[in-house]
Amino acid sequence: MKVVITPSKIREIFIYNSIYFEAIMAKKEGAAKAAEQPRVKTGIPGFEALVQGGLIPNSINLIKGGPGTGKTIFSLQYLWKGLTEFNENCAYISFDNNPERIKEDALLDFGWDFEKFEKQGKAKFIRIDPYSTTNIQSDIEDVVTKAKAKRLVIDSLTTLRVSLKDSYIIRKSLYLLMEALAQMGCTTVATSEMSRTGELGISEDSSLEYFDLEEFAADSITVLYNAGLGGKSDRALRVIKMRRTDHVKGPVPAEISGKGFKILGKSEF
Ligand SMILES: Nc1ncnc2c1ncn2[C@@H]1O[C@H](COP(=O)(O)OP(=O)(O)O)[C@@H](O)[C@H]1O
Ligand SMILES: [Mg+2]
Repeated sequence: MKVVITPSKIREIFIYNSIYFEAIMAKKEGAAKAAEQPRVKTGIPGFEALVQGGLIPNSINLIKGGPGTGKTIFSLQYLWKGLTEFNENCAYISFDNNPERIKEDALLDFGWDFEKFEKQGKAKFIRIDPYSTTNIQSDIEDVVTKAKAKRLVIDSLTTLRVSLKDSYIIRKSLYLLMEALAQMGCTTVATSEMSRTGELGISEDSSLEYFDLEEFAADSITVLYNAGLGGKSDRALRVIKMRRTDHVKGPVPAEISGKGFKILGKSEF
């Protein structure tokens, strides 16, 4: 049976989660937990409070969502904050888009001048052509080593997946890539496209075959989606899993503005 979730139900859930979110913020619980174990702060306003202070060091974090849900913006903001607030070098690897255009858009849209950091040797933006490379892991490893990157973004795994011929090769390549990433000494954010999302970002098909291999191998999965409400509270984010973390379970409202991506508190939507 298909459960129908009405806009008013979605709003109710949002309000419930935002209250919970604000309660955590008030108690500074996220900060206290972060002091117990080191975490990598994404710098996305509101995100740290959902996941006990940030990402696990050296982890692989999937950002999933449909087209236009903010995956690229989220991942660029993670790198930008790393460079400007935490003095951490970064690498951005694209399998499809031209990185020059990505940098141009980031500057025009949000004022993030990655080019400046690239000239200083602190950032590296490259495109790997999945159709012509013979060893994706070592290509990525090269970039991470040369940039001395602590933060790595792969945008997106879906392009890599479609470039591979059959399901055995896809599984094997992704498995090797995930294994290699775990050894690189940097914290990875990898995006992946999702087409079949129902309400609240829940996949409409929950059979085991639907799940991608990278979902099992990832340390965390966050889904970005459009809630279907329209207006300011249309965007939402939901942390599906994060190892070693008592994360907020439900969807929380989010926003993209000229300042980038942020989670909204109760009073803001
Ligand atoms: N300056 C801005 N202000 C508000 N929204 C923006 C701005 N720039 C981009 N967006 C929104 O972000 C979307 C693109 O986000 P992006 O991260 O590229 O999506 P994805 O990578 O998931 O396909 C656009 O479709 C638009 O809705
Ligand atoms: Mg994108």
